[in-house]
Amino acid sequence: MKTVTETVDRDFPSAETLARAADVIRNGGLVAFPTETVYGLGADGFQPEAVQKIYAAKDRPADNPLILHIYKKKQLEDIAAEISETTHQLIERFWPGPLTLVVKKRPEVPGYASAGLDTVSVRLPLGVIARQLIKLSGTCIAAPSANTSGRPSPTRAAHVAHDMDGKIDMILDGGPADFGLESTILDVSGARPVLLRPGAVTWEMLEQTVGPVDIDPAVLHEPQDTKRPRSPGMTYTHYAPLAKVTVVTGEVSHIAEKIKLLAAAAGKKTGILATEQTMRYYADIPSTAGSILVLVSGDRDRPSTIAEGLFDNLRRFDLHGVDEVYAEGLHEEGIGMAIMNRLKRAAGYRIIEV
Ligand code: TXA
Ligand code: MG
Repeated sequence: MKTVTETVDRDFPSAETLARAADVIRNGGLVAFPTETVYGLGADGFQPEAVQKIYAAKDRPADNPLILHIYKKKQLEDIAAEISETTHQLIERFWPGPLTLVVKKRPEVPGYASAGLDTVSVRLPLGVIARQLIKLSGTCIAAPSANTSGRPSPTRAAHVAHDMDGKIDMILDGGPADFGLESTILDVSGARPVLLRPGAVTWEMLEQTVGPVDIDPAVLHEPQDTKRPRSPGMTYTHYAPLAKVTVVTGEVSHIAEKIKLLAAAAGKKTGILATEQTMRYYADIPSTAGSILVLVSGDRDRPSTIAEGLFDNLRRFDLHGVDEVYAEGLHEEGIGMAIMNRLKRAAGYRIIEV
């Protein structure tokens, strides 16, 4: 299959290009499109064959459900069996935006996008391209992140092309994604909300809005075999570059000292994921070590800058053939919780505390 890439302006997208993309969706095809979080791989959520194509293109396990994307709040009524007061409050504060809600689904909503569960996850994205595309398609768009299953999520159209070229009909290139991490997922189907995946809408922001919010254990710790995480996607290896990643956590100067020692001893093609505050530490690693690539992920005092480029940096290490990466850990508060969740999983929970 030939994959067509179209450049679209993120603020004033061409109506003609979006109409063509919507035709592809209506005809059961696959379109990758930018959202404020990461690029999504969209298909009509109500056409079983189209949904099936998403699983095939991504090589995604069949028991991992998809998010249904809507373009206006009212569409939630067609999908959710009930909309609680809590849900209303969350929608008022955070939609459109990077918050996905897991709700009990109406019986008439088919189960093939939600892997047969009695709940379904729903998201109203912020960007104009995504919302116009959904509206013109006249449906809900089922869309996971547009990466091969297990790889870092795509935050640039080039990442999508790398994983999906020849497997999907169209890529809409709207430039880099704003947040760079997938949406926060909150399960509001039970008595008390449960955070299943942290994102740019932080746990602190959620608690400010609706009171106590539980955190699924799989958000912070390696999932145990005995306890199945409530978000099926959390069971799989994720976000992993080809390089072996280790996260070093602790006080920042100790982190930098440790990484310096590790990199000096590594002797292969080594990557360091540094921050603006620490990059100078790595300038004088002895040349007896193998080649070392230092990428600066962003500013520790503004962790959203780190989030934005995180997946791009992980993919860049791969492009340079790096075999081993040492990544600096961050505080797990605010968006730091989401960044650390992705980093730990990219590292397969190889973590050194100093
Ligand atoms: O930001 C995002 O959410 C992006 C953009 C494209 O919208 N989408 C995305 O989708 O990250 P995906 O499929 O890569 O991740 C969705 C996660 C998976 O871990 C899946 O297991 C979980 O959401 N999920 C989906 N439906 C669920 C449900 N009914 N209950 C629990 N977890 C669910
Ligand atoms: Mg994904």
